[in-house]
Amino acid sequence: MIDVEKIRKDFPMLQNKKMQGHDLIYFDNAATTFKPQCVIDAVTHYYTDLSVNAHRGDYELSYQVDSEYEGCRKAVASFIHADEKEIVFTSGASNSLNLVAYGYKKFLKKGDVVLSCEAEHASNILPWMKVCEEVGCELCYIELDEEGRLPIENFRKVMNERVKVVALAQVTNVLGYEVPMKEICAIAHEYGAIVTMDIAQSAPHMSVDVKDIDCDFASFSAHKMCGPTGIGVLYGKFELLQKMDPFMVGGGSNARFDMCGNILLKDAPYKYETGTPAIEAVIGFHAAIDYLSAIGMDNIHQYEQELHAYAIEKLSKLDNLILYNPHADGGIITFNVKDVFAQDAASYFNSQGVAVRAGQHCAKLLMDKLNTSATLRASCTFYNTKEEVDRFVEVCKNATIENCLNVFF
Ligand SMILES: Cc1ncc(COP(=O)(O)O)c(C=O)c1O
Repeated sequence: MIDVEKIRKDFPMLQNKKMQGHDLIYFDNAATTFKPQCVIDAVTHYYTDLSVNAHRGDYELSYQVDSEYEGCRKAVASFIHADEKEIVFTSGASNSLNLVAYGYKKFLKKGDVVLSCEAEHASNILPWMKVCEEVGCELCYIELDEEGRLPIENFRKVMNERVKVVALAQVTNVLGYEVPMKEICAIAHEYGAIVTMDIAQSAPHMSVDVKDIDCDFASFSAHKMCGPTGIGVLYGKFELLQKMDPFMVGGGSNARFDMCGNILLKDAPYKYETGTPAIEAVIGFHAAIDYLSAIGMDNIHQYEQELHAYAIEKLSKLDNLILYNPHADGGIITFNVKDVFAQDAASYFNSQGVAVRAGQHCAKLLMDKLNTSATLRASCTFYNTKEEVDRFVEVCKNATIENCLNVFF
């Protein structure tokens, strides 16, 4: 059970914040979430009480930083049911997804196939486009159904021995559908392909067990799950992390090197962590993981699904809206106001104190499928309330062409 009133007290950004003179309704959580006080305190704790580098020093403060830094790795590992040595800290999901594509490139050859789909975020498609261009592989797209879901039969149909990589999000960031990743991994592995899973939109909202799913890689960002910006995770099976190369080398990631150009990198995960990391963000991330775990990921998931169903029930009665994903599996509502360009409608929502996102949401390939050039996206999370949904629905009701255009005059 979620005690939303109690939870809201933890977030400074939810305390009497106004936007355009209205109480702020923040429905852009798929872009980034607000931070609870415990995360802000953890970041401040680093700068106030520690403030020294990690993995470098031989003095007490340095040991303490190392211990807090590695404590976060342990917490992340347990959060997604991985081993500590399989957790690489990166700057975010985009960084992690690029790292997989770059690192796995050396195992691909001309004629191999990388499989993805049109619903993917640019950060899970563009790195593979580049790899395919460089190596001569083919990037193919699994067909989505009418609703924009990825049916397992469509995946099975296109799977064959040429496929070496399957790159998919567990939950897509525009339509919010959950993809059956466990089945996908089992089928991909039968054909000898690896699966790189983008969990940027699932890890913040539901329990994710990478061992049970048996994916080879999983990438996510802390800032979408109440943690700081500038820190993310790449989970990888240890043997794969050991075999791949990092795209950055330098201080911190090497065991030794000599003047003949011989470089010996450390074992994973450290071989991927070159340079001084975002230490305060790692420490803040640990606080975020503890915070979410205390609420319970299953409780969060259930609450967000209920909030989504509550909103859809009301929104589907409005005839001025087009709803693209009434059956989403999480808190994402993607829609348009009929005959109003998405950005213009977003300006109207802004004028009413409601923060929603307009555009293509980094999933440009999906827009053709939805038969539009852009959409609005309202994304709720566990600290949003039914009362906020009610006010949002009222604003949607009043989002007529006249009202939307009046914002500009
Ligand atoms: C599904 C998905 N993948 C990847 C990303 C990239 O995350 P970041 O910008 O934190 O690197 C996002 C961010 O919106 C996302 O929604």
